[in-house]
Amino acid sequence: MAEDKKLKTLATGDKTIPPEGAKMIPIYIMGREYMVPETLTIMKAVEYAGYSYVRGCGCRGGICGACGTFYRFLGDYRLRSGLACQTVAEPNMVIMQLPFFPANRPGYDLENMQGNPHEELRRLYPEVFKCVGCGTCTRTCPMDIDVMDYIALMKRGDLRGAALKSFDCVMCGLCTSRCPAQISQYMAAMFVRRVFGKFILPKAEHLSKRVEEVKSGKYEKKLKELIGMKQEDVKKLYVEREREPDLAEAGKWMPKDTTNL
Ligand code: SF4
Ligand code: SF4
Ligand code: FES
Repeated sequence: MAEDKKLKTLATGDKTIPPEGAKMIPIYIMGREYMVPETLTIMKAVEYAGYSYVRGCGCRGGICGACGTFYRFLGDYRLRSGLACQTVAEPNMVIMQLPFFPANRPGYDLENMQGNPHEELRRLYPEVFKCVGCGTCTRTCPMDIDVMDYIALMKRGDLRGAALKSFDCVMCGLCTSRCPAQISQYMAAMFVRRVFGKFILPKAEHLSKRVEEVKSGKYEKKLKELIGMKQEDVKKLYVEREREPDLAEAGKWMPKDTTNL
């Protein structure tokens, strides 16, 4: 940052109102310098700087994976990564968000899958077996998942282990963008979790029953009723609904009115 350069402080909209006297810090968004209040997340800092999100923002709560971001600090060679909605902006961060990264997405039909799932994994994602064990994916993952390890479990045929280990993946794609073996880790992990859910986990009987009820049209009348209601009546219904107490024993609570179950 050039010392003599006059920094322009920008403020837009009402998304972020910094507290009075908030310290302003310089950050760089797509190569341009902005002064933003400290303590904001990268996402809020980007909005404070005047950008509006059209893509690359979803839940704002670290769940949807839409806001994967790379950044470096001025004068530091290390490339870092995080979720824009969860990572606090720091002085001299040079930021670039990566809202999408092209991954290998072969089609498959689990219902009619032939052969064993490990062989299918090899057919669909042969690149998984070319992992060189560099650990870049693990160091990149904003969810602190040991990505290299779940890839190793996949290679060994431990699909249950790989499914459980990758469970917290938010599909941000940052690991894939850095892999020297061009592996789409998160897509292979999605396949493995689907296989786990369909063939390894015991079937959830109550869920199957509910799916059958939905298919049979049991809720059509009620849905039509709700669709026909005024917005404020729907809101009232939602606010006044009977709710399960936080500390209810699992599987024990039932609402008093069971007509819609
Ligand atoms: S495993 Fe990859 S896609 Fe999933 S959260 Fe980690 S970096 Fe993102
Ligand atoms: S970045 Fe790619 S090659 Fe390196 S450990 Fe992860 S999956 Fe393997
Ligand atoms: S906006 Fe959903 S994880 Fe950041």
